[in-house]
Amino acid sequence: MKQAIGSLLVVALAAPLPAANNNDTTEPTPTWYGDVQSILEQECQVCHRSNGANLGGMVAPMAFTNYLQTRPWARAIARQVESGLMPPWHAAPRHRGVFENERSLTKEQKATLIAWASGGAPPGNPAGGPPARVWEADDDAWAIGEPDLVIDIGEDYFIEDDVQDRNVVFQTVITEEMLPEPRWIKASEFRPSGPVHHLLAPPLGFILPGNDPLVHDDGFGTLLEPGMTIIWDMHYHKEPGPGTGVWDRTSAALKFYPSGYRPDHAIKNAAMGKFDFEIPPGDPHYVATTWARFDRDAILLGYTPHMHLRGKSARFLAKYPDGTEEVLLDVPRYDFNWQTQYKYRAGGKRIPAGTEIELTVAWDNSADNPSNPDPTKTVLYGQPTTSEMMYGVVSFTDAEPGYDGSDTILEEFYHLLNERFGVDWESLSREEQARVFTEYHAERRRTQ
Ligand code: HEC
Repeated sequence: MKQAIGSLLVVALAAPLPAANNNDTTEPTPTWYGDVQSILEQECQVCHRSNGANLGGMVAPMAFTNYLQTRPWARAIARQVESGLMPPWHAAPRHRGVFENERSLTKEQKATLIAWASGGAPPGNPAGGPPARVWEADDDAWAIGEPDLVIDIGEDYFIEDDVQDRNVVFQTVITEEMLPEPRWIKASEFRPSGPVHHLLAPPLGFILPGNDPLVHDDGFGTLLEPGMTIIWDMHYHKEPGPGTGVWDRTSAALKFYPSGYRPDHAIKNAAMGKFDFEIPPGDPHYVATTWARFDRDAILLGYTPHMHLRGKSARFLAKYPDGTEEVLLDVPRYDFNWQTQYKYRAGGKRIPAGTEIELTVAWDNSADNPSNPDPTKTVLYGQPTTSEMMYGVVSFTDAEPGYDGSDTILEEFYHLLNERFGVDWESLSREEQARVFTEYHAERRRTQ
């Protein structure tokens, strides 16, 4: 994913540029300084700049921060925005305005970028627009700001030449020197140094490709306590081959609420999903469904659908106790490269006790799916990206402020764990859960 911006720029500059074509328009052609720069600053540069956002391994390979850099890409930009591929956002248009991290262009912004490209991408007058946005050049700066605590996986870990997919679990203990007292996490940001495809590290959070750093709304958080063991469930993925071996020492930066502050709402993340699916060879639309019921009033905070290369679509549907239904999230064109967490605006979405959430996903195992590694295979659950998964992580919290009971549960989540681990998960202590979890992964490592 990471490529040198310089070399790409040279290649792009060598391509022929479209000739200016102003004579058939009545509107004046938009210009870089007058119109385009500010759109790209708002909607694109968060990723498209040198040292731009690294969203779980997705790094934009070219910068759009000045005219010279951007000019060669004018036509590609028009193509990408016209087709809706950029900015990357995969929720259906009906959800416009619902999610805080939505990335989208207005009709006018789109039209301006397209008209600029087809009009020959002129620079215009440098004095004709607002001054260019200045981005922090500091390589070491965290997007969440100055962290209160930085922790890492505890060792330098080497991913050898021949590895394509590897799952490894690291355990690190939060010592009292690191954290003298329990603190509530306000924000977290992971920084992989190797080819991390995804990682789960409760209660710090998780990253999937395309994720933003986690910043909780005021009054919402997760608790970190001294003595806690952090289980880093890592999935590395790279192209195998001589010379591709690489080290990793992933770290995480945390920002806490002030000492002594307890947010009203403890955030929980639960995975809905299934293991017992069997996707037939060549099937262009294989569907699986699962559900979960909330037994107390809850506030939904966000959703993260997760499938692999054959993933096609995902939908979260609420079935309310009064019999009505509502589509919470529809992702009609799921893209494995962008595993976005769809995060509600501040306040989340309240649902009454008794609400059922139904998750429906579809896979495309046909040859028409360009990402399909092998359409002749029956595909089962598995860790490698060539196998499949079905998860819908639901972030939520109990609706009652200060509630610290544990009975707001997604029944289906525990059912899933029981099915997977073959043990009664709920009856295990936290330490036992950690042990089962680790053994399960060790087992998986041996069988790889
Ligand atoms: C969240 C990060 C992010 C944002 C925001 C974003 N991009 Fe991208 N963009 C990427 C990444 C990563 C790639 C390379 C991988 C890919 O193509 O998916 C890319 C690729 C591109 C490409 C090259 C596609 C090709 O291969 O021809 C263009 C053009 C582009 N983006 C335009 C835009 C424009 C215009 C915007 C704003 C309207 C935008 N992007 C917003 C991350 C982003």
